[in-house]
Amino acid sequence: MNKRKKDVATVAPLGLRIHLIGFGVVGRGLAKALLRPSTDSGNQPFCVVAVTDRSGTVFNDAGLDLEKLVRAKEKQTSFAKLGTHKSWNGEQALQNIASDIVVEVTPTNIVDGEPGITHIAEALRLGRHVVTANKGPFALQFQRIAALAERSGVALKYGGSVCGAVPIVELVRDALVGNEVLSIRGVMNGSCNYILSRMEQTGEEFDVVLADASKLGITETDPSQDIDGWDAASKLVILANAVMHQPLTIRDVKVQGIRSVTAAMVRDARKRGKALRLIATIKPGLAEVALVELDQHSPLAVTGTLNVAVVETDLAKDISIIGRGAGQMETASAILGDLHAVRREINARSASTGPARKGMALSGLEVGEVAKKKVHTIDEDATLGDAVRVMRKKGISQLPVVREGVCVGTVSERLIMDLLVRRGVKKLEALAIADVMGPPLPEIGARTPLVAVAKVLEQKSAVLVTRGLDIVGIVTRADLLRLVSVD
Ligand SMILES: NC(=O)c1ccc[n+]([C@@H]2O[C@H](COP(=O)([O-])OP(=O)(O)OC[C@H]3O[C@@H](n4cnc5c(N)ncnc54)[C@H](OP(=O)(O)O)[C@@H]3O)[C@@H](O)[C@H]2O)c1
Repeated sequence: MNKRKKDVATVAPLGLRIHLIGFGVVGRGLAKALLRPSTDSGNQPFCVVAVTDRSGTVFNDAGLDLEKLVRAKEKQTSFAKLGTHKSWNGEQALQNIASDIVVEVTPTNIVDGEPGITHIAEALRLGRHVVTANKGPFALQFQRIAALAERSGVALKYGGSVCGAVPIVELVRDALVGNEVLSIRGVMNGSCNYILSRMEQTGEEFDVVLADASKLGITETDPSQDIDGWDAASKLVILANAVMHQPLTIRDVKVQGIRSVTAAMVRDARKRGKALRLIATIKPGLAEVALVELDQHSPLAVTGTLNVAVVETDLAKDISIIGRGAGQMETASAILGDLHAVRREINARSASTGPARKGMALSGLEVGEVAKKKVHTIDEDATLGDAVRVMRKKGISQLPVVREGVCVGTVSERLIMDLLVRRGVKKLEALAIADVMGPPLPEIGARTPLVAVAKVLEQKSAVLVTRGLDIVGIVTRADLLRLVSVD
């Protein structure tokens, strides 16, 4: 391993700490991408502090050795010795290990979205930024997840979940910003495209090509998600929500697969100058995945495992984007792009909330000097209805509860939702906050050195800063990250 690589694998504490949930093809691809020599030395490094798979969680606050982890996983040997190892599942690991960004890359499940939904929701509730390539949670619950991220005030990125390395979400959101998107049409599943274009080239029957594609690893072991059109439909739903303001779920998509395609159908289309492709289309009033006869020269008639999308907009008109929709390093490329975007957002937020203090030694600063944020609190006697109204109005997910000015607990939207579900409570106005509040946020005197506060923030998401009996501010982990150097 060369010197630069080592810097990435083991960095100083308070770089951007990543918790990786899922260490399969894509998770290991990201690890390999992070091991490449970095060119952004001026930025806070990414530091993977925890990895969770089905065997449990391995972690090290100072950063895990990614090279050894990848090697251990690929040789199917235990990585228990490569850090502290616990049998914690994803949710438990999130609750026990401090991190800044959670990368969720467990298998896509479009039946109930699990375990991805639990991981992503818990990470957002804990105030962690989330990057994922997992389609399931978004195919089923896009709006609820996006709203949770919004309320928690953290970044949520899912570029890798739509067409792998093809940056279609970013194209529309960033490069085409200001345009109205009228429609998106595309080939969004590389496995189907491989099968159809090979049938076209060789005249083979569907079953023969499918069996070969499975052997080559082009389809999943169970190829039904691909060939029945559900994978493409999931991506379409994400695009509909993300860039077309259409709050769809996968149940709203009309879905057709390619199982019924015969060599004769493909041959016949070819004779007429046509190509059969599985095309996903989203436009107002239509969301469908369907077998379509395209002109052979259409920009959508790509071959092999390529993905392509044509975005139709009011100003730029048609823009086509083409590339690899899957693959280990291709998907890692999308995740890495999202990690950089999260870091830019963190930096932008810190630039807008105060002067840059990058590189400052924490021991030289008192917490009172950085506790500039106004704290919203609520009195213990208020009702849960009052609490929900304050949280919604102020855009916060946790509310410190005070008795005569002292924090005696915290109430969160999550606690309230749990109450609604578990106890069947309907009228929040009937319940005082005292009935449900969780533990208080820790209080720290304004003159406490920040280096001591940093230790508390390894376990807690925020501290309340007090001067005398008054709560004068709140400092979160993100605030501390702006001050980078600890001595
Ligand atoms: N592969 C691609 O080219 C590609 C492209 C775009 C998007 N994606 C998406 O990226 C995600 C990951 O794909 P992949 O190909 O890396 O899948 P994979 O190779 O099957 O890896 C899945 C990983 O998730 C772990 N896992 C499964 N259930 C878990 C649980 N309950 N808690 C914690 N970890 C769990 C597995 O643990 P074990 O190792 O212990 O089994 C494994 O490490 C999927 O959602 C997929 O749709 C993949």
